[in-house]
Amino acid sequence: MHEGFIGVFDVGVGGLSVLRALQQALPMEAFWYVADQAHFPYGREQDEKAILHWSDGIARFLVERGAKLIVVACHAATAAALQRLRMRYPQVPFVGVEPALKPAVMATRSGVIGVLATEATLRSQRYVHLVRRYASYVKILSDPCPGLVERIEAGDLDGPGVRRILRRAVEPMLEQGADTFVLGCTHYSFVEPTLRALVGPEAILLDSAPEVARRVQEVLFETGRARLLPRFPQGTRYFTTGDPRRFAQQVVRLLGEDQSVSVHRLVWQEGRFLARVRPREIPMAVTPSSAWQAMAVPA
Ligand code: DGL
Repeated sequence: MHEGFIGVFDVGVGGLSVLRALQQALPMEAFWYVADQAHFPYGREQDEKAILHWSDGIARFLVERGAKLIVVACHAATAAALQRLRMRYPQVPFVGVEPALKPAVMATRSGVIGVLATEATLRSQRYVHLVRRYASYVKILSDPCPGLVERIEAGDLDGPGVRRILRRAVEPMLEQGADTFVLGCTHYSFVEPTLRALVGPEAILLDSAPEVARRVQEVLFETGRARLLPRFPQGTRYFTTGDPRRFAQQVVRLLGEDQSVSVHRLVWQEGRFLARVRPREIPMAVTPSSAWQAMAVPA
């Protein structure tokens, strides 16, 4: 039976939509989720070099602590870093996330597909190649939905601002006949109900999370890494490079985790990420920041 955990990372809360699919598909596995909130957003603020730099720091942290597989639960980081991470850490399989264009091409009846993704994803080589591969069969319309990840990260999933951004993006797509919409950013999964209300019940909405979970299952079995019997209840450890208390609240809100969710803070020190772990479990609400001690998390 394989020990070790599955590492999952994103720049913020978006990857929690992928984590949710993984937890459902693989209840016996342990997960470590890292949110690089100190460098949020990757999609607009960071160039490819910076995204690669921070993704590499997180991957190294996870590999050194015993990750048996790493899921890059961010489209922007997948586009900027996945190939290089695979080369740098060949001992660990990586699974990335990519806009579900292939299923969209198979699902559309009108031949018009709308893709909602961040600027970093839309301008990446990976996406350009993907479109080139399928664009001869269908018409692909893309929109970066400026400001949407920021609102989702702030906890707004259906306010007037979110509806305005989505309406501005999808109305021209609907006018041109789009019947299938691809969620090309892991944050956008959390506004799927709001999007659904705008595009109507007949439209097809495609999220990459279920496909990522299926691929992770496959890789775990193919490489003999699956945990076949639970020895003790598996769970998820959370880390953020931002504010742990805020992130704990975001996890509770978006995943409905119970109140005991605790989040460790990752700090960048001497060219690598280190976890600051609290010396003992104390409720998040009363954790004084002075209770954080800088030390590496044991493998
Ligand atoms: N969740 C990230 C993705 O899937 C994007 C967030 C950001 O804008 O950096 O691309």
